[in-house]
This record gives sequence, structure tokens and C-alpha cells, in this order.
Amino acid sequence: PRVGVIVVAAGSGTRLGAGAPKAFVGLAGRTILSHALERVFSTTEPTQVIVVAPAGLEGEAEADIMQVAGDRRDLARVVTGGATRQESVANGLSALWGDVETVLVHDAARALVPAAMIDRVIDAVRETGHAIIPVMPVVDTIKRVDGSVITAAVDRSELAAAQTPQGFRRDVLLTAYQAVGGDFTDDAALMQAAGHTVLTVEGDAMGFKITTPADLQRAESLLAPSPR
Ligand code: C5P
Repeated sequence: PRVGVIVVAAGSGTRLGAGAPKAFVGLAGRTILSHALERVFSTTEPTQVIVVAPAGLEGEAEADIMQVAGDRRDLARVVTGGATRQESVANGLSALWGDVETVLVHDAARALVPAAMIDRVIDAVRETGHAIIPVMPVVDTIKRVDGSVITAAVDRSELAAAQTPQGFRRDVLLTAYQAVGGDFTDDAALMQAAGHTVLTVEGDAMGFKITTPADLQRAESLLAPSPR
């Protein structure tokens, strides 16, 4: 495949408080990771898939791949994550093999991202050559705060909420990872720090990140068969 998707699933999930690393918490009878992978394996074009798992849970990640990859299972590998998201992505990057030219980095916690959105990111990287992130408009009114004091209103028309998968040219992302230190919450921020242009495509309401118990409940409801 010319496209590789790194699915980072090595976070601890402290805010979810479900007693297991987040990607391995149950959602509609399976793991959060298996839902994310089902969609990653449903892209129009088959992609290479690197799952970055917490130390000790590599076998569980393999089992999730077997469950949902179908005839794409030979395109997937599991590697062990690091202490930060950035380290986990770096481990995933080193595991890519072959002639992959476009790399997507995706949070396992965004388990319900539709395959069409993944396709959209792949197409945009190919068409523009730039870094691409899916975004959603910000609906809340956002304030700048200092402790409990509001210091400024922020014009939300200037803001967007970033989702994943975020897409990059493999060579450019690799060079940026080698050049830039520090701790970034997403790959787009790292690319910007390395001086690259980052463009947006339309995100999806289903691209929300499962972080809190309420998010998990929302994902459960969205997956539940609709009442007749
Ligand atoms: O903690 P947060 O929800 O921001 O993590 C985003 C994604 O990065 C999650 O899918 C998580 O599993 C992953 N991650 C990781 N390795 C870490 C920390 C987070 O793969 N050390």
C-alpha cells in the first residue's frame, strides 16, 4: 500500500477511569480499538496499519486486528507505545514498511470516525502535498481564563476543533519528528512548529474523542440499534 495509518492506542485513559487502558475498554461488546480499526480497515483503498499498543497489551491488539481486518489482516502490525503520544507516534513511524508515501496518524479513542473521513484526509494529502487535519466548527462560546477569572472573550469564528486522522507526506513527517523536540498534543502542532503549512478538511460529528465516561455513554448510544 501507498498509505499507512498509525493508530495510537497506548494511552492510559486515566480520565475515563474504566480500569483499563482506554483503547481496550469495552464499547458495545468489543474494545474501543476494534471499533476504530473496523473503520480504518474499511477505507476505499487498502492501507498499511500500525497499531501502537501499551506494553503488555500487544496480544490484545493483535486479537482486535484478527476480529475486524478481514482480508486486510496481513497489512497490519502491532508495536509497543511510549510514555507520551509523541513517542508512541514515533514508534509507529519506525514500523512502517515498504513504499508508503502518505501517513495518517489516528487516535484509537476516536472510535466512530467514518471511513469516508479517512478517505477524505488521504485524498487531500495527495492533492495538496500539505499536512491535513479534519476540523469541526467550535459551537461553544470560548473564554480565555486566568484561574477562575475571565480575561478575554475569544472569537469562535477564528477557531476550529481538531480531529484525527491527520495526514502527512511520510518523508516530511519523519523529518519533522527527527527535528522537533517538545511535547505536542497532536501531529499538526508538531508540523507547524517545524514550519510546515497545515490545511483543513471537513471533520465529522462522529469524530469525537472518547475521553470521559459521558463520551463512552454517548458512543454506546450511537452504536445501539435504534428503537422501533
Ligand atoms: O490522552 P489522549 O486522549 O489525548 O490520547 C490521544 C490518543 O493518543 C489516544 O488514542 C491514546 O491511546 C494515544 N496515546 C498513546 N501513547 C501515549 C499517550 C496517548 O498512544 N503515551
